[in-house]
Amino acid sequence: MRKEDIFSAYKDYIMPTYSKTPLIFVKGKGSRLWDIHHRCYLDFFPGWGVGNLGHCHPKIMAAARDQISKLIFVPNNYYQIPQAKLAREIIYWSYPGKVFFCNSGAEANEAAIKFSRKFGRGRYEIIVFVNSFHGRTLATLAATGQEKYREGFAPLPEGFKIVSFNDLQAVKDAITDKTVAIMLELIQGEGGVNVAERDFVQGLRKLCDEMNLLLIVDEVQTGIGRTGKLFCYQHYGITPDIMTLAKAIAGGFPLGVMVVRKEFADILGPGMHASTFGGGPVICKVALAVFKTIQQEKLLTHCQRMGEYLFKHLNILRKKYAMIKDVRGMGLMAGIELDREAKTIVQKCFDKGLLINCTHDRVLRLMPALNITKQEIDKAIEILDEVLRDST
Ligand SMILES: Cc1ncc(COP(=O)(O)O)c(C=O)c1O
Repeated sequence: MRKEDIFSAYKDYIMPTYSKTPLIFVKGKGSRLWDIHHRCYLDFFPGWGVGNLGHCHPKIMAAARDQISKLIFVPNNYYQIPQAKLAREIIYWSYPGKVFFCNSGAEANEAAIKFSRKFGRGRYEIIVFVNSFHGRTLATLAATGQEKYREGFAPLPEGFKIVSFNDLQAVKDAITDKTVAIMLELIQGEGGVNVAERDFVQGLRKLCDEMNLLLIVDEVQTGIGRTGKLFCYQHYGITPDIMTLAKAIAGGFPLGVMVVRKEFADILGPGMHASTFGGGPVICKVALAVFKTIQQEKLLTHCQRMGEYLFKHLNILRKKYAMIKDVRGMGLMAGIELDREAKTIVQKCFDKGLLINCTHDRVLRLMPALNITKQEIDKAIEILDEVLRDST
C-alpha cells in the first residue's frame, strides 16, 4: 500500500477519534521504531504506556508464538493453564487476593466500579479526583475528573464526587453515608503527571479502614515496573483493596486486570460479571513472559537507575530553560511542565527523530521502556536540549 493510500483509507474508513501524527510505522525493536521510509525514531513514549519492555522483545514474541501454536482461545467457562499461572503470578507479586481478567484499563476500572456497588449494598458513591483519568466508558468517564473528556456525553452515571487531589480534608468533607470507595491514580498520567503525596495516600488508607470504604488504586499507567517498583502503591507503604492494571501487563497485547483483596474477593459470583476475551491463553502466556522478563533482566533496579539518570538530566535542562516550570514523576515516568503549550515542542522532537508525548496541554511526558540505556537517554536529552534551545 502506498503512503497516500494508507492516509486515504484512514480518512475514508476509520472514524476520526484520534488526532494523528502523519507517521506510518512498520517495524520496532527495543526503543527504536522505523517508519515506512526506513527512518529510525527513538521511542520515549512506547505504546502510550504499553511498551515497558520496548518493541518486539524476543521473550514476548517467543511466548506468543509458543502459545499460538498450541491453543489460541477458550472461553472463561473452561479452565486453561496460562490464566491459572498468571493469576497466581499477579497475586504473588501484589497482595493476597483474586483477579478478574478483561481487556483494557477502562474495563478493569468499570469492573472495580461494579464491584464497589455490590460491596456497598446500597452505598454507591465513589470519591475521585480533579485531573484524574480512568477511561472512556460511561462510568469511567463519570469517574474522570476532567471536563474535556466528558463534554457531550451527558447524562453520565451518577455516584461520583470529584474532589481536589492531595487534599485529605476535601475527601473527608465529601464522604456521606452513601460513600463506598475512593478511587485514584498514584501518579495522574493523563492529568499532567501529578504525583500523590505519601501522607495523602496513607491518610486515604486510614480513612478507608475507619469508614469501611474500598481504596481503589488505578495502576493502569503506573503498574508493571513503570515507577521502579512492580506496582506504584509499593512506594507508599499501603495496600489497596482493589488495584486495576492494563497497558504494559501483556507486552502490547490487550489485557486488563482487577485485583481484589482476599477478604471480599468472592463478592462477585457466577454470572455477575464477565468478559468473552478477558484473559485468553495467548495473552496470559505473554503476560507471564512480561513478569518473568522483568525479574530475569532486573528491570526494576534498572528502571530506578535509569530514572535517576533521566531526572538528573531533566533537572539540568530545567535550570537552563526558564520555560520549564517543573519536572516531576517517578522511576521512568516523567512530566516536564512548560510555561506554554507543549505541542510544538513535541512536533520538533518528532522532526529530529524523538517520539515523546504531551498531556494536559503544557506537560511533556516521557515514559521510555524500562530497558532503556544510558546512551538512549543521552540521545533523547540531546534532542530535547536542541529543541528547547531553538524554541526559547
Ligand atoms: C490511569 C488510566 N486508567 C485507565 C485508562 C484507560 O485505559 P484503556 O485505554 O486501556 O481503556 C488509562 C489510559 O490511558 C489510564 O492512563
